[in-house]
Amino acid sequence: MRFADLKLSSLGLRVANARLEILDQRLLPDQEAWVEVRDHRHMVEIIKTLAVRGAPLIGVAAAMELAHAASRGESDLRAVAAELRASRPTAVNLMWAIDRMLREAADLTEASLTRVAKAIFDEDVAMCLAMGNNGAPLIQDGDGVLTICNTGGLATVGIGTAFAVLQRAFEQGRRFHVYACETRPLLQGGRLTTWELAKVGIPHTLITDSMAATLMRAGRIQCAFTGADRVSRRGDYANKIGTYNMAVLAKYHGVRFYGVAPWSTVDASCPSGEHIEIEERHADEVRGVAGSFGQVRWAPRDVAVFNPSFDVTPAELVTGLVLDRGVYKPEEFQRLF
Ligand code: MRU
Repeated sequence: MRFADLKLSSLGLRVANARLEILDQRLLPDQEAWVEVRDHRHMVEIIKTLAVRGAPLIGVAAAMELAHAASRGESDLRAVAAELRASRPTAVNLMWAIDRMLREAADLTEASLTRVAKAIFDEDVAMCLAMGNNGAPLIQDGDGVLTICNTGGLATVGIGTAFAVLQRAFEQGRRFHVYACETRPLLQGGRLTTWELAKVGIPHTLITDSMAATLMRAGRIQCAFTGADRVSRRGDYANKIGTYNMAVLAKYHGVRFYGVAPWSTVDASCPSGEHIEIEERHADEVRGVAGSFGQVRWAPRDVAVFNPSFDVTPAELVTGLVLDRGVYKPEEFQRLF
């Protein structure tokens, strides 16, 4: 199969007529701008700047660019793979996808790399559906459901991870209300999850991250679903900064708390949460905010900033891990290894 034969499309990535395009997520929800990926350095910049983001999607995007590079006749595909693999450190799907490409398409031909990239894409679609179907029964009529960051079609090439659970429960006829945390500093919840919830028609309310405790105290949240960027063998998992806060609050208030991830997010080589590398990002993301609405800074220009992009939720705080292969209590999950 040649790269030019691929015809694939998802909410945030599409391939057709030998062109690889991404939806620039930095401009959502106000502008829907598709960008053609020129080469692997362009894709690295796209991933680093979060124009493309979400653990499964960055894995698929990097795999596609490696096949794309082969189709352009790039001479050193191992170097291309290494640059793509290093573009972000925490979400293991990126390393998983590139390692799988090099292992299963070891001859590094365009045909082999395209075949494996397409398999990674197709499997992500199937895993999203399976996670959604596995997790949907955990939501009951009348529930208030808390979520953070963006875990839907923009973060995967299917219907998402945690978002898939919400979508499948809604499609099955359950009626519930979603509270979407805005997700400082980059506002993936406020900009992207609200956009996706509106597209599907799920009733929802946007809150700042600091409002979750008040809602829980008032009995308005019964369960919480988050995605994951890397799940360790112990069941501790890294996800967007603020997830750990939510888990602590959920434990205190007796709210059920679930992490939702495909098997490509499980890092069998990682024993526990403290071994997960946490990406630290630029201070300006905290000193202000930027998007299609413009760029603002409100903090002093040189104020010291701490900006970890992810945190780790320990397995003790997790009611269950919703995977494409089933729902596991942390102790059941640990026995899989
Ligand atoms: O920095 P981002 O926007 O790539 O972070 C994304 C998340 O933390 C998601 O919750 C995670 O990738 C899992 S859901 C696909």
